[in-house]
Amino acid sequence: MIHDFKLPENFLWGAAISANQAEGAFQEDGRGISNIDLIPHGQQRMAVKLGNITHPKILSSEYYPSHDGIDFYHRYKEDIALMAELGLKVFRTSISWSRLFPNGDEREANPKGIAFYQNVFTECKKYGIEPLVTLCHFDIPMGLIIKYGSWRNRKVIDCFVRYADTCFREFSGLVKYWLTFNEINIVLHSPFSGAGIAFEEGENKNQTIYQAAHHMLLASAMAVKLAHRYSADNQIGCMLAGGSFYPYSCNPLDVWESVKKEQENLFFIDVQARGHYPSYAKKLFAEKGVHLIIEDGDLDTLKTTVDFISFSYYASRCVSSDINNKVINDGNVVRSVENPYLQASDWGWVIDPLGLRITMNQLYDRYQKPLFLVENGLGAKDVVEENGDIFDSYRIDYLKRHIEAMKDAVEDGVELMGYIAWSCLDLVSASTGEMSKRYGFIYVDKEDNGSGTFSRKKKKSFYWYQKVIKSNGTVLDI
Ligand code: BG6
Repeated sequence: MIHDFKLPENFLWGAAISANQAEGAFQEDGRGISNIDLIPHGQQRMAVKLGNITHPKILSSEYYPSHDGIDFYHRYKEDIALMAELGLKVFRTSISWSRLFPNGDEREANPKGIAFYQNVFTECKKYGIEPLVTLCHFDIPMGLIIKYGSWRNRKVIDCFVRYADTCFREFSGLVKYWLTFNEINIVLHSPFSGAGIAFEEGENKNQTIYQAAHHMLLASAMAVKLAHRYSADNQIGCMLAGGSFYPYSCNPLDVWESVKKEQENLFFIDVQARGHYPSYAKKLFAEKGVHLIIEDGDLDTLKTTVDFISFSYYASRCVSSDINNKVINDGNVVRSVENPYLQASDWGWVIDPLGLRITMNQLYDRYQKPLFLVENGLGAKDVVEENGDIFDSYRIDYLKRHIEAMKDAVEDGVELMGYIAWSCLDLVSASTGEMSKRYGFIYVDKEDNGSGTFSRKKKKSFYWYQKVIKSNGTVLDI
């Protein structure tokens, strides 16, 4: 079937990975340890991710999936050649902050770290693939966490700005699309894995989180300013873990609950896109017992806004004023009541393509800046047939329905720079640490316990997405 509506010719089709989920080589060539390297696959995972273990350590009894990732560090040439065959116009990845600044607060960057990313981006350019680079996709150097308590300390802003400055300088001419923080709102739901924050006993968690977020917002605004100073070509965006909050019913109490949840979720993007704290901030802080320390000049700094709004979309959320007798799920770490109208993935993430159209319309209407959908995909178990084929038609179905909804949103009038599927290759799941929660067009032979050859194999969805890109989203059927 041909879907009539045509996307613009320069539409950026892509696929993504992140450094902490793919690179591995966690101590190679001078790289320092990051928060993600301390998050085990096993039982302690949740407690560490949520920041409930004050001083997490690497234990010999645990397996840490980020340590070897999918070995992108050593296989990037082979992987980028596959991306070229897939027809990607954009490859989204992130830079590992601790590969450039092993402790986070050095004055000079690690030359081997710089060389690695220069090689990666040069390899992309060789095939005409544009890199889209996130400066911080959840990983913070442990040095900054141990010394300063991560983002709760203002000193980390300077360290981040030095890091961002290094990236804009060293990768100038190779990268022009940037994001500051991946899913900045995840700091609310997963403070250690999202922002390196581990709590002390008795600490007011909301106070710490919002103060840390204030510092991240300042650092983000400074990075935006710097990016523009380096080159007029640089375009730099914020990044939201997207998905609208539906009221469970038309009971005004449920509707009001959804309004409040939307505000909480969009809080950081409101600042990054509009250049100031939203009108509802005062009340929100009062309700959460937060007394933000804002220094002279901070509010001016925040006035520098992003060029575009990027977001991930996996699922919508649903909220109720009365959660008694309702099933709760944690799709993409955000708590939600079960929506009786929707089916869910094997991991309980609801599947809601129309929700993507709804989210896109809401975001564009609210911010009036171009959107960029930088993550969308289905985590599922794949089976390798005896002859080596992988028939992931469920993934194709998910992606097809979401791309259709995305096109509908563009037809509605939403300005969209591109679509980036999560993920290009199978990689370590951010929430569960599993490999078996696979998202890729390219299969990676690695199991949950770290065993496997790490060899790569094209899935059926690889050939499907190849056609989608080639036809600029016109051919969506298998
Ligand atoms: C997003 C993150 O939240 O969702 C990715 O930016 C993550 O890093 C993706 O991998 C899918 O989530 P998960 O937990 O299934 O890996």
